[in-house]
Parts: sequence; structure tokens; C-alpha cells
Amino acid sequence: MKFFVDTAEIADIKELASTGLLDGVTTNPSLIAKSGRDFMEVTKEICDIVDGPVSAEVVALDHETMMKEADKLRAIADNVCIKVPLTVDGLKTCNALTGDGTMVNVTLCFSANQALLAAKAGATFISPFVGRHDDNGTNGMDLIRDIRQIYDNYAFETEILVASVRHVGHVLESALIGADVMTAPPKVIHGLFKHTLTEKGIEGFLADWQKTGQSIL
Ligand code: E4P
Repeated sequence: MKFFVDTAEIADIKELASTGLLDGVTTNPSLIAKSGRDFMEVTKEICDIVDGPVSAEVVALDHETMMKEADKLRAIADNVCIKVPLTVDGLKTCNALTGDGTMVNVTLCFSANQALLAAKAGATFISPFVGRHDDNGTNGMDLIRDIRQIYDNYAFETEILVASVRHVGHVLESALIGADVMTAPPKVIHGLFKHTLTEKGIEGFLADWQKTGQSIL
């Protein structure tokens, strides 16, 4: 499963990229606003750090303007992936852009039927929002299961990018279901490394090692 980080904070992206485990980045207008940075500038900077797909979202609601925005965004770097909302105009834009060889991430997916439409529109990625489903009192992971089944039934190549990930349990379940990608805030990704028994184990081994009076270097 590929790991994307859901942020526009350069320091966090650099830190995760240095682990060699980061496959891409997703941003959205709220994350750009939170960063306080210029959209074009910060997107370029992210594309220079990460080789994989960097999602940059259009903000227009009509197809024609979405295409104009996408043209500006895809000129930033080859690894820009245009993010469009799951609307009629968004999917028209998806169809046109993927036909041109541009990567497209269809976002704000909340139903399996919407995911089916995105795959038919040739989306590179579909982003079902699991956390917002959970917040709404419905089970986000059930949606991932349904999309996996539908995409496998018809051998769609659209990758399932689990979004709105809130905790490490979402990551585990995504991997068990066979989602292709997950995008999570830096805090959740850092949480994946942690286990109290790992920390305790290191402590114990180091205490015993000190007793030997030896050094490796
Ligand atoms: C995904 O691409 C979105 O940017 C993101 O996962 C939304 O997450 P949120 O529901 O925590 O805002």
C-alpha cells in the first residue's frame, strides 16, 4: 500500500520523505489556507521534495474554469495530480485530463456509486473520505470494502486512495481490505511506527548492553 501525507506543511513533508516511506502528498484548499502559503509556490516546493503524485485541488465549480485552473496547476511540475470534486463537471474534467495523460484524483467521494462513476471517468485515484463518514455516524471502512469489490469486479485500474484518515486503525483496515493508497496527517503516520512493547524492548536491551561495557564503534 502506498503512503501519502495529507498536509501542505513543508517541514512535515521533508521529515517523512527522509524515511524513504513516503509515496506522495495530498493537499486541499483548507490545508493550503492553514499553511498560510501561496498555493502555486508551496505546491512547487512540495513537488521538488517528493517524486510521487502531489494532489493540488481546483476550486472552480464549472468544467471550463476547472480546465483553466488545471492547466495552471499541471504546469507546475510533472508529478502534479489534479484533484477535482465528485460532481458532473468534476468528472467531465477528469475525463478530459486523464485523456491527456494527466493524473487525476477525484475527491469528496462518499458512496460506492460515486466511486463507480469516477472509475468510468478514468480517474487515477478515487478519494473516499472515511473519517467524515465516521463523524456522520456511518462506517467509512464499509465504503472502502464496497469500492474494492466493485473495482475488482470490473478490473478498474483507478486506485483507491483512502482519505480523511483519523487514526492508525483506519490504516490497518485499509491495508487488510486491499486499498491501494492511504493519505493521512503526519501525526497518524508517525503513530504507525509506535508500540509500547518496542519502546520497552529497546530500553531493556540498552540497559543490558551497558552492563557488558562494550561499544560497537
Ligand atoms: C484528502 O485528500 C483530503 O485532503 C483529506 O483526507 C480530508 O481529510 P479531513 O476529513 O480530515 O479534512
